[in-house]
Amino acid sequence: MSNIKNIAVFTSGGDAPGMNAAIRAVVRTGLYYNLNVFGIRKGYDGMVHDDIFPMDAKSVANIIQRGGTILKTARSEEFRTVEGRKQAYENLKKHGIDGLVAIGGDGTFTGASKFFEEHQIPIIGLPGTIDNDLVGTDFTIGYDTAINTVIEAVDKIRDTAESHDRVFVVEVMGRDSGLIALRAGISVGAECVLIPEIKVDYSAMMDRLDRTRKNKASRVIIVAEGDDAGGAFAVAERIKERFPHYDMRVSILGHIQRGGSPTCMDRVLASRLGVTAVEALLKGHQGEMVGLIHSDVVYTPFNKAIKHLGTINEDLLRIVDILSL
Ligand code: F6P
Repeated sequence: MSNIKNIAVFTSGGDAPGMNAAIRAVVRTGLYYNLNVFGIRKGYDGMVHDDIFPMDAKSVANIIQRGGTILKTARSEEFRTVEGRKQAYENLKKHGIDGLVAIGGDGTFTGASKFFEEHQIPIIGLPGTIDNDLVGTDFTIGYDTAINTVIEAVDKIRDTAESHDRVFVVEVMGRDSGLIALRAGISVGAECVLIPEIKVDYSAMMDRLDRTRKNKASRVIIVAEGDDAGGAFAVAERIKERFPHYDMRVSILGHIQRGGSPTCMDRVLASRLGVTAVEALLKGHQGEMVGLIHSDVVYTPFNKAIKHLGTINEDLLRIVDILSL
């Protein structure tokens, strides 16, 4: 049986829809197991500056449906230093905190990994990022909501594009990952999808635009912001050089992709993983992220969870190609 009595939960890095559902699940599961539960505001920054407060069942009431994070989030410069992490540890000790649940993405787990190495406080990670760029889970909390936001926006763009016979280049989020672009791209029937994991092949893209012109009034190209083509405006420039007669527009979807009420998929994922995270701490797990693969719980060490870069299901790109006719 575990010695853990006091746990704290925090969110860090870019926010993601479903983070609140995860916080709620962690707090209530902690209380269910008679633990004292604390919240830390603004991620590692709040740890360094002692922005730590007790939470109860009521403090997470009516938040499952809310986007963003009630605990707020930040990227902390001080926590990157040995002194900052030492201060954070002292603050946790002051409150008697002996277990942590970190909700975030690769930056969050890089920090957690270092912190665990230096201070050996048990930490369990929950994958919370719209980018879906972590190893050890099929989907991250927030990804499903984000791609559905993209779909809703691009469907609207398609209406106007179709009416004007236009080509649209739509930029979606994904600094290092094309997973939002790829899945949303298939869902909106995009003619081309450009992602950071695959070098852009301009000649193939131009051929496809030319070929599809016969069958369609509008064409939509989805570009992940981190693509090597340099973003939507750069792509539009290249297309314009080759096809000056195209009526083109660019649309950058931006941070609307990070907000909004989480979908059912994200709420259930967050709830399941939140419960699992606390139970994992009590079972003695530490330094690992909990995820779901084929609906089964999987534990992945932080240093492995952050190694997503470059892995993409190329079959999804092939589907874009085949269905773009
Ligand atoms: O949450 C991940 C992410 O959406 C990336 O895809 C994007 O590049 C980044 O966050 C932007 O975050 P911010 O505007 O907070 O720096």
